[in-house]
Amino acid sequence: MTPPASTPPSTPQEVPLPPGSFGLPLLGETLDFLRGSQQFINARRKQHGDVFRTNILGGKTVFLIGAEANQWIFAGEGKYLKNRWSYAIRQLLGARCLSLIEGQEHLERRRLLAPHFSYAAMRDFVPTIEALATRHFEQWAARPGDFRLWDAMRTLTFEIALTLIFGQNSVDVPFLLRHFQTWTAGLFSVAPVNLPFTPFGRALASKQAMLDSLDRVVSERQQRTEQPPDLLGSLINSRDDAGNPLPRETIVEELQLLLFAGHDTTVTAMSNLMLLLAQHPEELQKGRDALAALPTPLTLDTLRGTPRLTWLLFEGMRLIPPIGGAFRATTQEVVYNGYRIPEGWTVMVSIGATRAEANWTEPEHFDPERFSPERQEQKKPGTYIPFGGGPRICLGQHFAMVEMSVMLALLLKHYTWELVPGQDLQYVLFPFPKPKSGIQLRFHRAGAQSR
Ligand code: HEM
Repeated sequence: MTPPASTPPSTPQEVPLPPGSFGLPLLGETLDFLRGSQQFINARRKQHGDVFRTNILGGKTVFLIGAEANQWIFAGEGKYLKNRWSYAIRQLLGARCLSLIEGQEHLERRRLLAPHFSYAAMRDFVPTIEALATRHFEQWAARPGDFRLWDAMRTLTFEIALTLIFGQNSVDVPFLLRHFQTWTAGLFSVAPVNLPFTPFGRALASKQAMLDSLDRVVSERQQRTEQPPDLLGSLINSRDDAGNPLPRETIVEELQLLLFAGHDTTVTAMSNLMLLLAQHPEELQKGRDALAALPTPLTLDTLRGTPRLTWLLFEGMRLIPPIGGAFRATTQEVVYNGYRIPEGWTVMVSIGATRAEANWTEPEHFDPERFSPERQEQKKPGTYIPFGGGPRICLGQHFAMVEMSVMLALLLKHYTWELVPGQDLQYVLFPFPKPKSGIQLRFHRAGAQSR
């Protein structure tokens, strides 16, 4: 029988390490992992079960898979686990932003930011998101010929995020977007070498260009005697116990983190859902039927009154989680399910792997109604975690859900789309699950009478 999860261990040296292999010296099993993380996990799970060790991305790592394991990881934040980020991400994000700070400082920063990301706070954003999304969708529909959904979605969601983060302040969107794209391209560098022609080197240069530009926006806002009650205003007004404000560099790094955290995640979730809907016309039709009578302009209440929007978004992210996994590090030796995990090891939060949990009926099937009140297949804690869990649960989850609900409602109500035949829809999983073609679409306005 498997002993229960426990920490800290009573007699650590008698407890075995998890089964598995560290692979080659230095490189470990990194190449295998990068070739296909899903196959990597499946093969080891078959051989060793839901707890196994390996050595990937420069460190001894343990995979703990399943709902109970997820709960154990989330409960361990700040006790026996802390966040772990790669060298490239640490360099490119900056040490003072929410994702990289720990303990009390992390809790306080979350408390400061949380009101701007609450569900209720999203009420005022619905008209703005609707206006921006409508403008972009109309441009997509007016465009002659086929287009790549991924790129178009990136531009749209970037504009939406800028509006949330900076209010209606004018920022140079094309300039920021260009540097943002170079910056994010370097965030997941496996070999982060700082040379002018490497993705990492270019990303560092773009980071600086973005920081300078954001710094000007913050500095201009700091000159004002009164701050508007927006996200930037809260960051500027914040004081620590000694009455000190947040340094401007910290504010700028926080803004940059928020742009990053909310961007490719949303692009991935929305684009993949549009692909799934194109591949499942019966579900697309049910979505259209549910939306047909929804009045516009949209409001938080009318969106909430259309649960199918949430089922569709949830099911898309269950089948293809935008973030397949996250990294933690043990801060002391711990025992999980009879296995010893030494201090300093990486612990993977296996978000993608919980798709195979036993409580999902036909887990590989696209079935939005599994989230309906009658079925509630996600009910078991730790089973459905596209936004993570515990103290580091996604800060922007309500924002993401409202933003995506508005986009999906408009798409289902007013537009149609088909996949261009013959494109390569094979997925590349790292850093975000994306079909190789970038999803080529034909996109039209639905019949004039439906508007
Ligand atoms: C579909 C969209 C999104 C998905 C799937 C998603 C997923 C996640 C996940 C899994 C985590 C936890 C990572 C970990 O445990 O290490 C996370 C953290 C975070 N997310 Fe999101 N996210 C989304 C959208 C957003 C948006 C729109 C924002 C903000 C504008 C945002 C801001 C953040 C921040 C700041 C964190 C770090 C929280 C902390 O360390 O305390 N996310 N997100």
